[in-house]
Amino acid sequence: MNYIGSKLSLLGFLEESINKVVDKNCSVFCDLFAGTGIVGSYFKKKGYKVIANDIQYYSYVLNRHYIGNHKELGFSALTTEIPELKNIKVEKRKNFVCSYLSDLKGIKGFVYNNYCFGGTENQNEPRQYFSDENGMRCDAVRQKIEKWKKEKLISDDEYYFLITSLVESIDKYANTASVYGAFLKKLKKTAQNSLVLKPAELIINDQTHEVFNEDINKVSAKVQGDILYLDPPYNHRQYATNYHLLETIAKYDNPVIHGKTGLREYQNQKSLYCSRTQVKKAFRDLILKAKVKYIFLSYNNEGLMSLDDIKEIMSLRGEYGYFTKDYNRFKADRAENREYKAEKTVEYLHYVVCN
Ligand SMILES: C[S@@+](CC[C@H](N)C(=O)[O-])C[C@H]1O[C@@H](n2cnc3c(N)ncnc32)[C@H](O)[C@@H]1O
Repeated sequence: MNYIGSKLSLLGFLEESINKVVDKNCSVFCDLFAGTGIVGSYFKKKGYKVIANDIQYYSYVLNRHYIGNHKELGFSALTTEIPELKNIKVEKRKNFVCSYLSDLKGIKGFVYNNYCFGGTENQNEPRQYFSDENGMRCDAVRQKIEKWKKEKLISDDEYYFLITSLVESIDKYANTASVYGAFLKKLKKTAQNSLVLKPAELIINDQTHEVFNEDINKVSAKVQGDILYLDPPYNHRQYATNYHLLETIAKYDNPVIHGKTGLREYQNQKSLYCSRTQVKKAFRDLILKAKVKYIFLSYNNEGLMSLDDIKEIMSLRGEYGYFTKDYNRFKADRAENREYKAEKTVEYLHYVVCN
């Protein structure tokens, strides 16, 4: 997923730098601002036990699948509803179920009624986050997954795999410049294609993993590990507003929504790490409480905390250092012609070896 702050293109830099600092006996990697789960997934593939967390529910879902699921998904109970599944090799069933869902006839549900032109054209401010067809397809898929779960035709593992596949897939058809803070007036090309559910990658290994959906300052007290990787928001832009529609598709909880963009309530997901006045206190508290051997922090040179703030706070736990890499800025608002101060930023990986 094209996610603000995604570390997809920095995975090599992270691994190389981390390996220069940690000892060989580390086996538990904690990714507690996990976002898309790409960092945890990378270290899971390297054999680590991973503990993941994020305050957003869609991110919990992604991590619950990419990190939490580590065994093949057989969809055995679903054979009562889809008998053809019995003739499909177990490892191919994920694909079969996704194409079964892709073929469902669309229905007019919450997404269509609130975020598509056809469903909102009689409102003062119609919305067009998805084509009418894709909004209806999304509703049909999401409702079917929920029905299967209620009827115990799928396990929790299978449920999170399917919702992850839907969230990842629908995002590719969104009629936005990149995030859900605004939609485009005209349906862009990719939004005109019909939604096809692409099965999310399943990472199989023999470790068990843990996944949480809480504020990091609460969860860190419960978590113990070797390496704590921190990748907080760098600025005031709240993920809850930028990705509100993914939250609603993941939860499918018919929320009260308001405004031009159909925003859901997000008071309890407002991040202190997006507040210039509160971030330092929250970060200090987190660093002081962490029960790990090493702490790493991704941050750039334009973030809310200064390099000196970070150094001062992380040094409270032991020997501090950092690595740097030039990085191309995330181009979320290109279509709005926003002017940028610089094309490149410097990405820092700060660390502390805890005493
Ligand atoms: C920079 S992104 C992480 C990106 C991730 N490393 C990746 O590559 O996809 C920051 C994440 O922190 C989460 N977040 C913000 N404040 C949080 C908090 N107080 N507790 C837990 N997660 C939080 C956001 O929801 C967002 O997913």
